[in-house]
Amino acid sequence: MGSNNSLAVRCRSLVKSYGSGDAKVTALRGVDLDVREGELLMVVGPSGCGKTTLISIIGAILSQDSGECIVLGHDLQRMNETERATLRGGQIGFVFQMFNLLPSLSAVENVAIPLLINGTPQKMAESRAREAIEAVGLGSRPNVLPSELSGGQQQRVAIARALVHDPKLIVCDEPTSNLDHDTGVAVMDVLRGAGKKHDRALIVVTHDPRIFQFADRIAHMDDGKIIEVTNGASAL
Ligand SMILES: Nc1ncnc2c1ncn2[C@@H]1O[C@H](COP(=O)(O)OP(=O)(O)O)[C@@H](O)[C@H]1O
Ligand SMILES: [Mg+2]
Repeated sequence: MGSNNSLAVRCRSLVKSYGSGDAKVTALRGVDLDVREGELLMVVGPSGCGKTTLISIIGAILSQDSGECIVLGHDLQRMNETERATLRGGQIGFVFQMFNLLPSLSAVENVAIPLLINGTPQKMAESRAREAIEAVGLGSRPNVLPSELSGGQQQRVAIARALVHDPKLIVCDEPTSNLDHDTGVAVMDVLRGAGKKHDRALIVVTHDPRIFQFADRIAHMDDGKIIEVTNGASAL
């Protein structure tokens, strides 16, 4: 267990643009952000302000143009694509708005994917996937197809898949925006519990004021910058 004062993520003067010439769009204009171990940080702000870009860089999916981004002690700018892939696959979990489950695979098979990619033997991968599914409250239905599950249950499967390899950092892009109020709150409860239990850092991008209650801190973004960081309702 790390202490709550250790940093999981440190960003300084992060800049990122897309395209070039007349078509150039600057998505991040100098972002400074710290995320502590064990903390649930929400990132909020209007559509297009750079939230997805920011967490894609932190999640080692996308490279910044300039500035510093240190994730779990790794300086992303100094890493090549293979090293980034290893960091992602070993220590970062992702949860998306659209769940992104493979429709022809059962819940347990979907959840086992990150472990199989990491080279975990099939039997062990499936047994750990079952445990992860149990931990998100779907233990009685490990073998169903995603289409047989409700939206909230599908998002729980997606959360189990993000947690199965025991990541130290979990990055979530609008995880409740396709869910009704009660289901969204229940899903956040699962996510927050999974973070706190293992001292993981959780970054949740959201538009959804109904889930602000789960935040330790809230980073407010506008036009490619973080303009303010406030304490959330459940501040540490
Ligand atoms: N792949 C891309 N190519 C070109 N522009 C992009 C791309 N992704 C995002 N953008 C632009 O970058 C800005 C920030 O986008 P994004 O990070 O998706 O914001 P948010 O998640 O807050 O809605 C927007 O102006 C968007 O249009
Ligand atoms: Mg977005």
